[in-house]
Amino acid sequence: MKYFDLAGYNASRIVQGCMRIASLDKKEIDMLIKTDLDCGINFFDHADIYGGGECERKFGEFLKDNPSLKDEIIIQTKCAITNGYYDFSKEHIVRSVEGSLKRLGVESIDFLLLHRPDTLMEPDEVAEAFELLSTQGKVKCFGVSNQSALQMELLQKYLSNIKLHINQLQFSITNTGIIDSGLNVNTEKAEAVDRDGSVLDYCRLKDITIQPWSPLQHGFFGGTFINNPSYENLNKKLKEIGEKYGITDTSVAILWILRHSARMQPIIGTVNTERIKQIAAGADCNMSRQEWYELYKSTGKTLP
Ligand SMILES: NC(=O)c1ccc[n+]([C@@H]2O[C@H](COP(=O)([O-])OP(=O)(O)OC[C@H]3O[C@@H](n4cnc5c(N)ncnc54)[C@H](OP(=O)(O)O)[C@@H]3O)[C@@H](O)[C@H]2O)c1
Repeated sequence: MKYFDLAGYNASRIVQGCMRIASLDKKEIDMLIKTDLDCGINFFDHADIYGGGECERKFGEFLKDNPSLKDEIIIQTKCAITNGYYDFSKEHIVRSVEGSLKRLGVESIDFLLLHRPDTLMEPDEVAEAFELLSTQGKVKCFGVSNQSALQMELLQKYLSNIKLHINQLQFSITNTGIIDSGLNVNTEKAEAVDRDGSVLDYCRLKDITIQPWSPLQHGFFGGTFINNPSYENLNKKLKEIGEKYGITDTSVAILWILRHSARMQPIIGTVNTERIKQIAAGADCNMSRQEWYELYKSTGKTLP
């Protein structure tokens, strides 16, 4: 497993997403987290809403049973989606973090992200909430999720002593919105339309880490594209490259994200320990530029 410096943390290049762990029993959670750690994955992504709080609670139970592993684990959680709308108020952010701390059974959260943009945001209120949580030692570092470049820039303006380190965005071989407009710039193709304010370039410019979510899903939670008959060419290519490097098709799909030159830290959502081992094994491989573009084009996309 490769690591990089993320706000002073020695963070694994792959994150374990915890959105799908609510239905696992104690033994399965134990096996999942220990497999992650054995594979070198030390970064775990939560949200206050995952499983209605069950995901954080079950993770907290694991930490309580394994206190010696606490220091090896970097915990991230998200807040601001609530009751079918978004809430960036100071009161909501602070209350949400207190709930997460309680469920996780920890004194501080390493990274807190705002889950989805709240168009009613008062940036000075968010800044007050972040500064309070930081001064109280309840949150160490901050970031956002699903935000455009200018949304980040606006919020950052109000955060005098706090840097936004992360933007969690949907990105996979089949969901390439954040790279399409850059590849098709200055053309009349539909893909040239910039839907996110060049967020990829902005993140690179500001040394912000991009955490691609749902790296194996097509559409918006449409199911995995792996072995999906609607993506025949892609799956053929994944297998072909996998055979060359001695890794699985699933690993190749994650490696494709890691091969991008931005600070990419994909969040895998599988709870299957065999798949986790395969993905981790593949993460240390490399992929040529040509292979990378062949995979991009295997879903039907064209280059100008
Ligand atoms: N910020 C946001 O708005 C946002 C949104 C969504 C998710 N997230 C984060 O991103 C994480 C990952 O999201 P995700 O779970 O959608 O990611 P994902 O890794 O794309 O999908 C995982 C799902 O795909 C299945 N899968 C993976 N490989 C497979 C294969 N080879 N064959 C068949 N099924 C396969 C898994 O089943 P098995 O478990 O059986 O392998 C699991 O149900 C979440 O846990 C969460 O932390 C963030």
